[in-house]
Amino acid sequence: TPSDDTRSTILVERRERVGLITLNRPKSLNALNRRLAAEVLAALHEFDADDRIGAIVITGSMRAFAAGADIAEMVDKTFVELNADDILSDWDQVRFIKKPIIAAVGGYALGGGCELALLCDFIVASEDAQFGQPEIKLGILPGIGGSQRLTHSAGKALAMDLVLTGRTIGATEAKAAGIVARVVPAGDLLQTALEAAHTIAGYNAPAVRMAKEAVNRAFEASLAEGLMHERRLFQAAFATEGQKEGMHAFLAKRAPVFRNR
Ligand code: CAA
Repeated sequence: TPSDDTRSTILVERRERVGLITLNRPKSLNALNRRLAAEVLAALHEFDADDRIGAIVITGSMRAFAAGADIAEMVDKTFVELNADDILSDWDQVRFIKKPIIAAVGGYALGGGCELALLCDFIVASEDAQFGQPEIKLGILPGIGGSQRLTHSAGKALAMDLVLTGRTIGATEAKAAGIVARVVPAGDLLQTALEAAHTIAGYNAPAVRMAKEAVNRAFEASLAEGLMHERRLFQAAFATEGQKEGMHAFLAKRAPVFRNR
């Protein structure tokens, strides 16, 4: 059998209007190497450009969503090498994907794995999921946004605790901290995430994109600017066919049929 590095590192499927990406380097608990990053990004761009897809789910295995960036790939790097050839830069592109991305997290989401989950728009976790930023134990610190996104979603106290001690928290604590949107039994994880994605994919696609953009604006702008951005997007939604369909359907007491464009 070929080694992990000579074959695809992910599985890519279409489930009706949902694009599903399954991280697939089981021997290293889905450690995020450069090839996996490139393959995930290529799949995300493909789904984002495809009108038949309305939402995306990223998942791993029952044992690990991802146990972090690939330590074997990084161990001998120097500052100058990483600075000249940034092996993490592909991940920076995830935030430019316009369609919603749900992380379905079972097992370990550590280091870069936790950061990848935080890069997604929301996280559905199984009861056995574990989140942490253990980079400090390796003599480094988070590098794919953990110090920033964890602080945004969980606040300074827990972010400092996790980043500085390297301790891991379970799904219940992660949910209480605002890191995770929903916690479900392990057997229901993928189904729950796919159902949420199917629901989203059935709505007025331009409004879905605008809604994601509006929420994300809260992390970049002042309240006044964010509110203005939201109001303009709200007004822009009235330029879409789906707004007419959604509102007329409500008033006619029938189900809306969105044409997803
Ligand atoms: N990189 C490379 N290989 C990894 C890995 C990683 N992040 N995590 C696990 N693996 C490999 C192990 O080396 C092991 O390989 P072998 O079978 O060849 O020995 C295999 O996956 C299975 O792992 P374990 O035997 O360690 O499994 P376990 O059940 O005993 O422990 C674990 C599971 C607690 C998750 C443990 O694997 C672990 O601590 N992994 C590393 C977690 C970590 O430090 N992540 C941060 C990485 S740095 C980072 O992510 C930087 C960044 O922000 C960008």
